[in-house]
Amino acid sequence: MLSLDQQVQLALGHVRRHLTRQIGRQARGAAWEAFDARLVRHFPALLRELAGVYGARADFLDVLARVVATAWQGWRERPADLRALDAAREAQPHWFQSERMLGGVCYVELYAGNLRGLMAQIPYFKELGLTYLHLMPPFLCPADNSDGGYAVSSYREIDPALGTIDDLRALAAALRREGISLVLDFIFNHTADEHAWARAAVAGEEAFRDFYLIFPDRTLPDAYDRTLREIFPDQHPGAFTQLDDGRWIWTTFNSFQWDLNYANPAVFDAMAGEMLAIANLGAEILRMDAVAFIWKQLGTDCENLPQAHALIRAFNAVCRIAAPGLLFKSEAIVHPDQVVKYIAPEECQLSYNPLQMALLWNSLATREVNLLQQALEERHALPAGTAWVNYVRSHDDIGWTFADEDAIRAGIQGFDHRQFLNRFYVARFPGSFARGVPFQDNPATGDCRISGTCASLAGLEQGDPHAVARILLLHGIALSAGGIPLIYLGDEVGTLNDPGYLDDPAKAGDSRWVHRPRRAESLYAQRREPGTPAQRIYQGLRRMIEQRCACPAFAGGALTGFRSGNPSVLGYTREGGGRRVLVLANFSEWHQSCPAAVFCAQPDATRDLIGGAARRLRDGLTLAPYELLWLDLGGSAGA
Ligand code: GLC
Ligand code: GLC
Repeated sequence: MLSLDQQVQLALGHVRRHLTRQIGRQARGAAWEAFDARLVRHFPALLRELAGVYGARADFLDVLARVVATAWQGWRERPADLRALDAAREAQPHWFQSERMLGGVCYVELYAGNLRGLMAQIPYFKELGLTYLHLMPPFLCPADNSDGGYAVSSYREIDPALGTIDDLRALAAALRREGISLVLDFIFNHTADEHAWARAAVAGEEAFRDFYLIFPDRTLPDAYDRTLREIFPDQHPGAFTQLDDGRWIWTTFNSFQWDLNYANPAVFDAMAGEMLAIANLGAEILRMDAVAFIWKQLGTDCENLPQAHALIRAFNAVCRIAAPGLLFKSEAIVHPDQVVKYIAPEECQLSYNPLQMALLWNSLATREVNLLQQALEERHALPAGTAWVNYVRSHDDIGWTFADEDAIRAGIQGFDHRQFLNRFYVARFPGSFARGVPFQDNPATGDCRISGTCASLAGLEQGDPHAVARILLLHGIALSAGGIPLIYLGDEVGTLNDPGYLDDPAKAGDSRWVHRPRRAESLYAQRREPGTPAQRIYQGLRRMIEQRCACPAFAGGALTGFRSGNPSVLGYTREGGGRRVLVLANFSEWHQSCPAAVFCAQPDATRDLIGGAARRLRDGLTLAPYELLWLDLGGSAGA
C-alpha cells in the first residue's frame, strides 16, 4: 500500500513526464523552471481537489495531465509585466487588506460608452480614490438579451460595441499604472446559447455532447425540479428550458444561459483555459460568478454542494501555478452559513458580504440595529488572508438572505419580516421613504427581491429630508467595518432609478435595469455645486475616504462589537497600527442617546474623524438623526 505522499509523487511524475514529452524543448529555460517550482508546490492541492470530483475515473491521471498542460499554456502566454506583478503580490500577499483599498463597479457602455471612454475616466477614479475597478462583463454576448453580459458567447472576444481585446489589455495596464486593480468576472457556471461549445453540443459533436446538461424528455428535469429553488421564476418555471428539437436543457438563470456540466472533466479543463486567458488580459481579481450552482446532484437543491467547493479550490490551485498574483472574489448570495464556506486562502480570498448589505437596509427600515449588530459580532470574523467586500447595493437585486435562526433570537419571524421588508422597499408600507421595484415576485412561494439605486431606496427620489444622511450612513459602515468597500458608480452622486428600461423589450422583463442607469453627467457636474444632494453625498463620501486612508485602524477586517445601550445605535470598534476607533451609527430620524455607563472603559475626550468635532463621553453621548461617528480613541491599549 502506497502512502499518500508516495501517491502524490507518482502522480506528479506521471504528469511531468507527460507534459515535458508533449512540449519538448519548451521544457527548458527560466519560464519552465519557475512553472515547475510552483507545480511541485501546488500539485498536492490540485490533485486532492480534482480527485475529490474525478478521482474514481479510470483516466484520472490523464485528466490531471491535461489540466497541468493547460496551466503551462497559460503561464507561457502570461505577459512579463503580469509575471512581475505576480512576484510583487507573492512578496506582499496581504496587499488587499490595506485601509487604502476602495472599489468601484460599473458597466462599460452605461458608464463610459466603450473601453476607450472608460480610459478617459481614470482621472476621476483617482479623484474618488479607487484602487479596484470591477467592469461588468465586457465579453462577446448575444445582441438582444445577454443578462447584462452574463451570457458569454466567447471569453476570448470583446463585445465589438465596447472595443477590442487590445483596448481591454491597454485599459488594464493603464489602470495598474495608476494603482487601480482591474476586476473581471469569471462566468463559469454557464455560457450563452450562442457560444461555440453550445452550438457544437446541440449539433451532437462528440467532443461537446457532454458540455451541458441536455435531457431527451422531462423525466429527469421533473425529478430535479422537485428539490430546486427557482432563481428567475419570471423567466421560466423550474430550472430547465426546452430546445427547438424538443429536448430539455439545464438553465438555472435565463433560458439563453446554459449551465455547464462539470461532471465532465473536459469542461473543467476548458474553463481553466478561459480563466487563465482572462487573467492574462490583466485582471487582478476574478469575480467568481454564481459559485453556488456549479454542481448538480439529484435529490438536493443543487446549491453549495461539496464538489462545487472542490472545483473552485482546483481553479484556485491552477492559478497558484500559472497566475499566482490572481485573487478570487466569491459571489454566493445564499444562507450566511454557506457564504463563509467559500472564503479561504485556498478557495476565494474575497467575498461579497450580502448579509451586511441586506441588514443595512433592514436597519434603515426598522430603525433597529439588532440583526446588524448580531451579524457584525457573530458572522463578520473571517480566516486570516481573506476579506469581505462590503457594499451597499450591487447591479443585482437585494435579497433578504439573513438566517431565520438568527432572526428568531431577536424575536423576528423570518418569513413575515421579509414580507414587511418587501412592502417597505416598494413603498407599499405607510410612511416608507423608499422607491424600490419588486424583482422576481413569486406568489407561489411568497419570495420577492428588491431593485433600486441606493439614492432611490434611501429616500432621495421621494424628497425625504434625511435621504443624504442615510446614503452617507450606509456607505460609512461599508467603509469602516473591515474589508474592501465597493461603490456602485453613480451612487456617489445620488443617481436615481431610471424606469427607461421598460421601453426596451430586451430589458423590460428584468427590473434590475431600473438601478443600472447611464452615467449622469449633470450629477457629476453638481458634485462641485454646494448644497446640491450630489455635492453633499460626494463630499461626505470623500471626507470619509480620506479619513479612512489616514487611519491604520481601518486596515484588515477584525472588529469588536460595542453595545451602545440604544436599540437604534450600531456600535463597533476597529483597532490596528496603534490606533483605535469607535464607530457609532444612528439608524433613526430622531436624536438618540447612549448612556454614560457604556463608555466607562473609554477615554472621555475623543474626536470624530468625520466631522472633526470634539466629543466627550463621560456623561454619555447623543447622536443627531442618522449621525455616523468615527470616534478617535487614540492609541490602542498595547501601543
Ligand atoms: C450573477 C450575476 C447576475 C446574473 C447571474 C447569472 O449572479 O450577478 O447579474 O444574472 O449571475 O449569470
Ligand atoms: C440569486 C443568485 C445569485 C444571483 C441573483 C441574481 O440570488 O443566488 O447568484 O446573483 O440571483 O438575481
